[in-house]
Amino acid sequence: MVPSIGYNKTRTAVFISGTGSNLKSLIKFSRTAKSPISIDFVISNNSKAKGLDYAKKFKIKKKVLNFKNKNLSEKELLSILKINSIDMICLAGFMKILSGNFIKKFKGKILNIHPSLLPKYKGLNTHERALNNKEKYSGCTVHFVNSRLDSGKIILQKKVKISKKETKTSLAKKILAQEHKLYPKAILKAFNL
Ligand code: GRF
Repeated sequence: MVPSIGYNKTRTAVFISGTGSNLKSLIKFSRTAKSPISIDFVISNNSKAKGLDYAKKFKIKKKVLNFKNKNLSEKELLSILKINSIDMICLAGFMKILSGNFIKKFKGKILNIHPSLLPKYKGLNTHERALNNKEKYSGCTVHFVNSRLDSGKIILQKKVKISKKETKTSLAKKILAQEHKLYPKAILKAFNL
């Protein structure tokens, strides 16, 4: 990724489905001088996503698209992104799978955060599976998005130790705290900063 020249930050949309704690950390990061991105749009597939409150709080445009008809929703999405000059997408707890066609249109410009040490535990229920397999470590990964689920080029990972008494909930909490630090770092790395 190439940083914009001068003061123009790369206009970015964040896609969410739920709580939006990563969205919040990305908004805070985007408003620091060192950030190469600005967050200019929030997309959610879920009108009840708590994360939408952050869009309101930080005065960022938002749109809910239900993705029931993926084709139609993605068409609308592409037009929204174009009208708003969005040049980069950060997926942050977004629970819908984007089509190959959509991903092609933003080739190399979509990032995702995943709560495991990829390539281990792609998909859902990562913490439960790591615990069931008696892993000693888990963590989180920021990667570029390609057409295969959770399989794009890895940008950065953070390892987290699994304690003896670890539960799904405690592990999720521990990893989420690391995600909030990892995503901004990975963005800097993606921009070679
Ligand atoms: C995070 O654990 C993220 O890695 C996963 O979904 C969770 C989203 O959390 N894909 P939040 O909505 O950012 O709080």
